[in-house]
Amino acid sequence: MVAGGGTAVHSGGVALTPDVDIRRNDQADWDRFDSDWYFRHNYASMRDDDRQILERMGEFFSANVVPSDTPRFGLDVGPGTNLYPTFAMLPFCRSITLWERSEANIAWLHREKSSFRPSWDAFWGQLSRFRRIRAMGGNPRRRLADSAIVCRGSIFNLPERRWDMGTMFFVAESITSDYEEFRQATTRFVRSLKPGAPFAAAFMEDSKGYTVGEYQYPAVPVTMAHIKDCLSGVTSRPPEIVSITSEHPLREGYSGKMLLALGLAAGNPVT
Ligand SMILES: C[S@@+](CC[C@H](N)C(=O)[O-])C[C@H]1O[C@@H](n2cnc3c(N)ncnc32)[C@H](O)[C@@H]1O
Repeated sequence: MVAGGGTAVHSGGVALTPDVDIRRNDQADWDRFDSDWYFRHNYASMRDDDRQILERMGEFFSANVVPSDTPRFGLDVGPGTNLYPTFAMLPFCRSITLWERSEANIAWLHREKSSFRPSWDAFWGQLSRFRRIRAMGGNPRRRLADSAIVCRGSIFNLPERRWDMGTMFFVAESITSDYEEFRQATTRFVRSLKPGAPFAAAFMEDSKGYTVGEYQYPAVPVTMAHIKDCLSGVTSRPPEIVSITSEHPLREGYSGKMLLALGLAAGNPVT
């Protein structure tokens, strides 16, 4: 997904040029992430693959979040401009931490959380087909505004065993082109959850990188086998990994499939 032409490298950011080879996470300028562009391109309306993911994630959390009187705390890592992973945790959690590295996305999240735009209603509607999610009652706008905590942080600095459930969508494989960093990011995410905590993590399959507005960001071209391998040491049983296909791929430069891992963090649940 390299646009042709010039060789200019914007200060801090990386222009679309074949000469530039971004590899590690800290070599990309995340503060220049064009949040509005990314939102318009990915989430202005609900795609068929998002709908399938919401369906599987809603089912999984409804079946695996253990009813409890103690409040639960959720985590979404690298939320960018995607609110639907947070929606899936909203009914179960007192608060949800949105752990994001990019200043641009943090500003977008602050604006959006105070009253999310109407296009998100379709995503919420998909989840509210589940009884335990519907049971939340009330107004999801109010609930999100009250419970989302936007926090600046890197996935590589997440504390361990902190949260009761978690999501990580298109992050570990889409923030670096270094396989070892992808592995570290994936395991850091799962290790930030308490033993037994349910999680959902989504990945673009075989991604070669992607553009957001004027900038190109790196990716690791992962397969189901890579994800299984990375998760094998950090989950309590083999996670379910679902291949999500769509007749209309989101963009060029990946297999056209998204992979959704649904699992429980390793160790005995904290009671
Ligand atoms: C491809 S976007 C995915 C955004 C969103 N989760 C989604 O589902 O579309 C990758 C996200 O990871 C964030 N990110 C990049 N490096 C990060 C890091 N080290 N720690 C946490 N988030 C990071 C980016 O700012 C961006 O929001």
